[in-house]
Amino acid sequence: MNTKLLLTACVAVFCAVLAQACAGGANKAVKLGESSIDEVVAAMTLEEKARLLVGAGMAGAGGDASDGKAPAVGETLSLVPGAAGTTAPIPRLGIPAIVLADGPAGLRIAPRREGDGATYFGTAFPVATLLASTWNCALDEEVGKAIGNEVLEYGVDVLLAPALNIHRHPLCGRNFEYYSEDPLLSGKTAAAVVRGVQGNGVGTSVKHFAANNQETNRMGNDARVSPRALREIYLKGFEIAVKEGEPWTVMSSYNRVNGVYASESRELLTDILRSDWGFDGAVMTDWFGGADVAKQVHAGNDLMMPGRPDQEKAIIDAVKSGALDVKDVDASVRRVLELVVRSPRFKGYKYSNRPDLAAHAKVTRESAAEGMVLLKNDGGALPLAAGVKSVAAFGTTSYDFISGGTGSGDVNEAYTVSLVDGLENAGYTLDAALKARYEEHLRAENEKNKPEAGPMAAFMPKARAAEFVPDRAFLDALAKRADVALVTIGRNSGEFQDRLVAGDFDLAVEEAALVKDVSEAFRRAGKKTVVILNIGGVVETASWKRHPDAILLAWQAGQEGGNSVADVLGGAVSPSGKLPMTFPVRLEDVPSHKNFPLDYAPGAPDLSPQPSQNRPNIDFTDYAEDVFVGYRHYDTHGKEVSYPFGYGLSYAKFDYSEPSLSRDGDGYAVGVTVKNSGAAAGKEVVQLYVGAPPNPARPKPAKELKGFAKTRLLQPGEGERVTIKVAAGDLASFDADAGKWVVDAGGYKFHLASSSRDIRATLTATR
Ligand code: BGC
Repeated sequence: MNTKLLLTACVAVFCAVLAQACAGGANKAVKLGESSIDEVVAAMTLEEKARLLVGAGMAGAGGDASDGKAPAVGETLSLVPGAAGTTAPIPRLGIPAIVLADGPAGLRIAPRREGDGATYFGTAFPVATLLASTWNCALDEEVGKAIGNEVLEYGVDVLLAPALNIHRHPLCGRNFEYYSEDPLLSGKTAAAVVRGVQGNGVGTSVKHFAANNQETNRMGNDARVSPRALREIYLKGFEIAVKEGEPWTVMSSYNRVNGVYASESRELLTDILRSDWGFDGAVMTDWFGGADVAKQVHAGNDLMMPGRPDQEKAIIDAVKSGALDVKDVDASVRRVLELVVRSPRFKGYKYSNRPDLAAHAKVTRESAAEGMVLLKNDGGALPLAAGVKSVAAFGTTSYDFISGGTGSGDVNEAYTVSLVDGLENAGYTLDAALKARYEEHLRAENEKNKPEAGPMAAFMPKARAAEFVPDRAFLDALAKRADVALVTIGRNSGEFQDRLVAGDFDLAVEEAALVKDVSEAFRRAGKKTVVILNIGGVVETASWKRHPDAILLAWQAGQEGGNSVADVLGGAVSPSGKLPMTFPVRLEDVPSHKNFPLDYAPGAPDLSPQPSQNRPNIDFTDYAEDVFVGYRHYDTHGKEVSYPFGYGLSYAKFDYSEPSLSRDGDGYAVGVTVKNSGAAAGKEVVQLYVGAPPNPARPKPAKELKGFAKTRLLQPGEGERVTIKVAAGDLASFDADAGKWVVDAGGYKFHLASSSRDIRATLTATR
């Protein structure tokens, strides 16, 4: 190279360095962690700001597809294979990418990696609905702690959970990922899980904010809901979770709320979430959610996930054209940087990839047993008598137990303990001939129902095996030789699709026949039948519940599910779960039933966002039932239900005495003594419902849950005094005209109850 060329090259390099330094502000040594966040923001170019607000993409989905893989939802190009996404790194400023992965039933990552012999299994904990059924926040926090440890030790920074949308209708396909039809129970459970997870120094993302109560056309549907119902029912749980859990992030939902995409709603994301509730973390979109990035940033939706390059361009163009104020961009950049700074990856945490899976298996086994709900127990059928040794297990899911739902809420666990495995572990003998028949039947059904190839297959529920109903001769022989019959009814569902009525909410004809025929054959032989419900959402029970002696609602109980059921059946654990929702007599009784999409399987009608078509329950859904969701409706109108909210039996028996009510600051303290007068140990969930004075301007539900407390394990004869506090603000309802919460004057009824339909004492106070 001659001197002139060398000189030209040197000048070029010098200019490039200078340009870089100028573009990035005056000080090229600015680094996140060493410099203040304000200095980092000041040093960033508009392009870098836009890059930071848009996630790094998803393989094959318009992001970095450099690994050449086919599009695969749930797969990632990120640092932890199988995580849902990452933020964008900006090395020049010392900003690393951080990793976000699903929940809620455990950490969802890929269990195996190419060219790597090691495994990366996550523990499948019980589904969210089961956790809510424990009504035990300390235990929920322990589960959160164990999940958070896996998040930390597998190198993930933020868990995309918990999810706390309201169970508005039993057929929402994702209800298993959510807690309850009641916002207080939802919020308290979510806050406990957030505290548990974040205690590990990793983040959570409470989702999906807000009013995401159906899967049908979830990316286009407009939830039309009154401001009062929004505040009292659909936002209340989030308010509690935000104030009492302090999550690092919130995930906005796909749907619109009263015409505006949740991710584009400044009212939701800034006025309510931040100004009213004091949330100081970051908000991210649900995956590919919303339409207009500039509106999202202005609304206070800081991160677009998983991120597409066109979104970066849209931010840059909007700022340049004046459509988006750079101040809004800076506010979001600041919040994303604050999130990054909190993350273990930024702090250089050396994760082990070896969480203590054996310890977590114990956590999931115990928590699952505590959330199972004993719906029926005639003649003391349970716990199984000491003489019961041999079990005839019916129902395909006895052998192919469902640990959790599908979609992003699924976990890649190492194993699932089926019901029959659990029973054998507990020392019971399974009827071998029946077991062989079921195994053969299942093999044939699985062969018939082989999932189609393709990335979505693993994401959707597999086709359910048809039920096998033994003929009468075989049944009678079984009833003669086995000590007890178990009949498992299984259900699965997941995102993208709401559940169906026929054969899903309703029992299939074969299932109903199985329950009836087995119960009758075993009754003829003087033996008992127990139905196990291995389900993620409510099913019809009124038409068949008279047949079996006992019904145990086991939910989808995580990878140790079979062991947990055996713990309850055998009496090692006394059931103490209570329903977090109502089981209606008929689906038509559900207050939102006229305004819920029915029988839309994906691929059937066109469910893409087409608001112009204005199809009821697809393009928009009227929340006409307003605040009267679940028991608020059934109890106010005296409707018969199959199993009420808050219901659940125990092997123990609880007496309530000495109820008391006293002023506590501006609110009240309500107390009661619970005594176990039964012969077995047990825990009781004391529920406090409040009936507000009538107000014609804002019709009030007959009663609403305002607090709850679970006793410790009470031995026979033992008692515990329980106190539940209610602040004055908790008695308020939302006055939409005034735009504020109001505590009406008048008499308030405080009901101490064992379920919403089993009130043990009522006290009144006048304000
Ligand atoms: C789900 C979210 C999930 C995200 C990332 C979306 O389809 O709605 O709950 O966190 O995917 O996997």
